[in-house]
Amino acid sequence: MWKIIFNNPFGCRMRLLVVELILIWAYSAQGGIPAVPWKVQCPSQCVCQIRPWYTPRSAYREANTVDCNDLFVSSVPSSLPAGTHTLLLQSNNIAHLELQELGYLENLTELDLSQNSFSHIRDFKARDLPNLVSLHLEENQLESLPDNSFFGLESLEELYLNHNQLSVIHPQAFLGLRRLLRLHLNSNLLTSLDSQWFKELPALEVLMVGGNMVSSILDMNFKPLSNLRSLVLAGMGLKDISDFALEGLQKLESLSFYDNKLIGVPKEALQRVPNLKFLDLNKNPLSRIKQKDFENMAQLKELGLNSMEELVSIDEMALVNLPELTKLEVTNNPKLSFIHPRAFQKLPRMETLMLNNNALSSLHRETVESLPNLQEIAMHGNPLRCDCVIRWVNATAPHVRFMEPQSTLCAEPPELRRTQLRLVPFREMSDHCLPLIPVPSFSPRVRASSGQSITLHCRALAEPEPQIYWVTPSGERLTVSADWGGYKVQEEGTLEIQVVSSAHAGVYTCVAQNLVGTDYKSVYLMVNQISPTRDDPVQLQVGEVGERHLLLSWIPPLNALGCSLRWSCLTPGASVERARLPVGLNSYNVTRLLPGEECRVCLRVSILGGRVRTACASARTRDTGTGYKHRGQKALTALAFCLLLAVIGLLARYRPGSRTDPTSTWSLTGRVIYPPIIHQWDKDKKEECISGINVPATPLW
Ligand SMILES: *[C@@H]1O[C@H](CO)[C@@H](O)[C@H](O)[C@H]1NC(C)=O
Ligand SMILES: *[C@@H]1O[C@H](CO)[C@@H](O)[C@H](O)[C@H]1NC(C)=O
Ligand SMILES: *[C@@H]1O[C@H](CO)[C@@H](O)[C@H](O)[C@H]1NC(C)=O
Repeated sequence: MWKIIFNNPFGCRMRLLVVELILIWAYSAQGGIPAVPWKVQCPSQCVCQIRPWYTPRSAYREANTVDCNDLFVSSVPSSLPAGTHTLLLQSNNIAHLELQELGYLENLTELDLSQNSFSHIRDFKARDLPNLVSLHLEENQLESLPDNSFFGLESLEELYLNHNQLSVIHPQAFLGLRRLLRLHLNSNLLTSLDSQWFKELPALEVLMVGGNMVSSILDMNFKPLSNLRSLVLAGMGLKDISDFALEGLQKLESLSFYDNKLIGVPKEALQRVPNLKFLDLNKNPLSRIKQKDFENMAQLKELGLNSMEELVSIDEMALVNLPELTKLEVTNNPKLSFIHPRAFQKLPRMETLMLNNNALSSLHRETVESLPNLQEIAMHGNPLRCDCVIRWVNATAPHVRFMEPQSTLCAEPPELRRTQLRLVPFREMSDHCLPLIPVPSFSPRVRASSGQSITLHCRALAEPEPQIYWVTPSGERLTVSADWGGYKVQEEGTLEIQVVSSAHAGVYTCVAQNLVGTDYKSVYLMVNQISPTRDDPVQLQVGEVGERHLLLSWIPPLNALGCSLRWSCLTPGASVERARLPVGLNSYNVTRLLPGEECRVCLRVSILGGRVRTACASARTRDTGTGYKHRGQKALTALAFCLLLAVIGLLARYRPGSRTDPTSTWSLTGRVIYPPIIHQWDKDKKEECISGINVPATPLW
């Protein structure tokens, strides 16, 4: 029996089966209870033994077994021993069976005809076998099951019909199988599931229907199955589970949606299976686990969210009030780069958190602290950034055991690359760290056609928690909860464009900012294959003029990727200063100037397509009569500087290759280490003024 279950690729996630399976496997493989010869007149080539046997409810028995597997016979051997309990005829060539071939075996309990040649169930005529409990017909060529297909098998508890060619099953096909506990229909050619079939199966506990292309489960589809404990709906191409699809499954404990096309958690449907303990959603194209996707499931013990190619984030309050949840597996999700610090709420029993082999750069202290009973955690196989966000591993969580600590390594910062997480000297680290928008969640280019709806995800972890905003191609800032012009920024940082039109094409930049700094990444949205071509200049204006500051503002060109501002003033010893600014910031206060100073300011904006726009302006701070007077010489410096900028701009513009691929030659990502706010800049400015060469040696662009 164990072999057949393993044959079925969709059964392997089912805990209930697996438990049985392991028991059986352990016995048979390790020979805990060896088979002993059964001394009877045994048909030639067959083996007659007394072997261990388990009922469908896992009670142990010793069974008189006749093993005629793999003999390539086309009929059942004659004169089988009268006391035969288990008859194994797997991998033969039998296409037809008359009752008299088996009817004399009054105690026949299990019959294995898997991997034979039945193409019509009417050729299986051994119907009056009152003690038959287990019938294996998997891996034959059955195409349809008419009404009454198994009449006369009223003791049947297990029926294996998986891996046939079944496309038609009549409503009364299973008539009379009032005791059937387990039905395997997986890997056939069914296109719908008829709830009429199930009316005949009131005792059914395990149903496997995966591997059939059934695109939808109807409301009340399983309603008659009030005793069902385990349901496998794997590999069916399911896109959507209607709210009442699981209605009536009062005893269901184990449910698998493995390998379907679900793009969201079927949360309404799940609320209707109150006793669910094990849920497998692995291998579905979910992109987010959203707020309250798993909520108030009183019995849920284990949840699997593995191998999801599209999964990007687990949002705030994604799992809430699951009092029995002990194990959460979220592994092998190549884009999963964000788990919200408050993703898990009221999970008092959670012991094991498997997060290995994702794209996580960190895990927030709050996430761990919200799990009072956490015992072990797996984080290996993630590109961890060993900074202050994850410093809790060294301090606050001594009771949490890391699985595979040797392979739980830092990927960043460069000086800690390949260092084991637990060996990082976190104590010496600052309490604050920069935002980081993880790369895997962010594709640099998205194609869409008019009318489609688009979601662009952006998440970041930092200490303190960063603010997130988006910048449109025309430079407007969209903050969280913004909802205008067809744009919507959700709480978690996802930008939604509900109905895309070609007017939406262009560069969108997500900016994550906290008091330490800013990270930003841009995505190029192409609509209907059209690239934006408008090419307008940048305008720079000096607004407020103070004794010690100049307030600059500008209107950015379309599809800006980033800006830098440089200024120099006519003060002896003053150097050229610069600030690198994320897009969406359209003004800047240049401070700590001296009264009556003549300053020259240039703004450079890089735009999509590898082009650069430059604008310069001159202004003089308000005079109090104590200003410096070295204008001529310094004005020349400023002029030279702007000329240099213009040359660089031209070079960049005509750089070979920059036209062929608008996004490849210019980085769409950037990090601003100095925040574009005044206080921090003021602090740094003094040093720059003294050294005069504190400007990074590598160009910003
Ligand atoms: C069938 O099983 C019953 C009960 O175990 C037993 O008494 C009987 O002898 C068996 N029949 C044969 C033919 O072995
Ligand atoms: C913290 O890290 C140091 C190594 O820098 C290590 O010796 C110490 O045991 C760690 N503490 C905890 C609680 O893991
Ligand atoms: C610019 O900075 C100066 C000096 O710090 C300050 O007095 C002024 O209010 C600032 N202007 C704006 C608009 O923030």
